Amino acid sequence: MNPLKIGDKTARVPLIQGGMGVGISLGNLAGTVAQQGGIGIISTAQIGFREPDFDAHPSEANLRAIRKEMEKARAISPDGLIGYNIMVALKDYKQHVAAAVEAGADLIISGAGLPTELPGLTAGSPTKIAPIVSTEKSAKVILKYWSRKYHRTADLVVIEGPKAGGHLGFKEEELEHYSPEIYEQEIKKIIETVRGFADEYQTEIPVVIAGGIYDAGDVQRAMALGAEGVQVASRFVTTQECDADIRYKEAYLNASREDIVIVKSPVGMPGRAILNPFMKRVMLGEKIEHTPCHRCLARCNPAEIPYCITDSLIRAARGDVEEALLFCGADAYRAERMETVKEVIDSLF
Ligand SMILES: Cc1cc2nc3c(=O)[nH]c(=O)nc-3n(C[C@H](O)[C@H](O)[C@H](O)COP(=O)(O)O)c2cc1C
Repeated sequence: MNPLKIGDKTARVPLIQGGMGVGISLGNLAGTVAQQGGIGIISTAQIGFREPDFDAHPSEANLRAIRKEMEKARAISPDGLIGYNIMVALKDYKQHVAAAVEAGADLIISGAGLPTELPGLTAGSPTKIAPIVSTEKSAKVILKYWSRKYHRTADLVVIEGPKAGGHLGFKEEELEHYSPEIYEQEIKKIIETVRGFADEYQTEIPVVIAGGIYDAGDVQRAMALGAEGVQVASRFVTTQECDADIRYKEAYLNASREDIVIVKSPVGMPGRAILNPFMKRVMLGEKIEHTPCHRCLARCNPAEIPYCITDSLIRAARGDVEEALLFCGADAYRAERMETVKEVIDSLF
């Protein structure tokens, strides 16, 4: 096992814990992963939902919570690597990036859209930056754009495949097209593209593979494809240290393979989630009533959406699992018992 080196920052274990939005990966999970030698990632998506003024002032509440969750993580791991996942689709994307840099983020990972502005927003800071890409095409587009506009390249690239949880960077028909074997070819092409940019800039750009990394065999396969590390999310949900409500974790433990489905999201990308009474109603075409807009997404028309993504993810984080959107990876059904972060990392490596 080689450490994961991102420029001058080194993680002893070549593992990034994937960001999980709205209260699933906060300071406790990220801090514990960092303490155990991996890179802990706090998700900024509606991170302030527990702040008392969240309904009235969501932007301020989120920015405050970005700071607070880093403080929590740092208290657990003063010297480990801790970063943020910041979705490009967020209305306050730029403000979240600025707050993350100010909070001392080691790394910012951005997906759910291509993070065209990220290098400009982090310029002059020691924060490393990584786009999430799912296809060779998206890797080429973002790395060319950064090269042309900012004369720089990525510090790390996350390749997120079709088995990931949360929002997926594929259209529904693409998800059907990509068998594991076909997607491996895509991964190799993405790695080749990334190596081209690394050569051009005479630097190293480590690549990590995400989506369906569940056991040591998956880690070895990812490394054999040429990756320097893996990003793992679902497996950490059923840890004691994960920030989600215990009922959310139990929903993973109780899910079977057939319960995991592809769902439509107001973000405009397909997502993967556990089929529950809420999702059944959505799939039958019911329009779910929602609270006043939380102004989370740059592009969302509250009058048209089938359900509010923030409402449904907050209910998930709070444990109202029947009436919530329960994002999960394709292999989440494999969880059989609660573990600790250390046990998960030991079993993967
Ligand atoms: C509950 C959940 C929430 C997620 N939220 C986000 C998010 O807010 N932003 C993001 O870029 N990725 C998100 N993801 C994707 C993960 O960061 C990760 O890349 C992916 O799930 C890896 O696949 P795995 O779950 O099979 O390990 C989420 C995944 C899950 C399971």
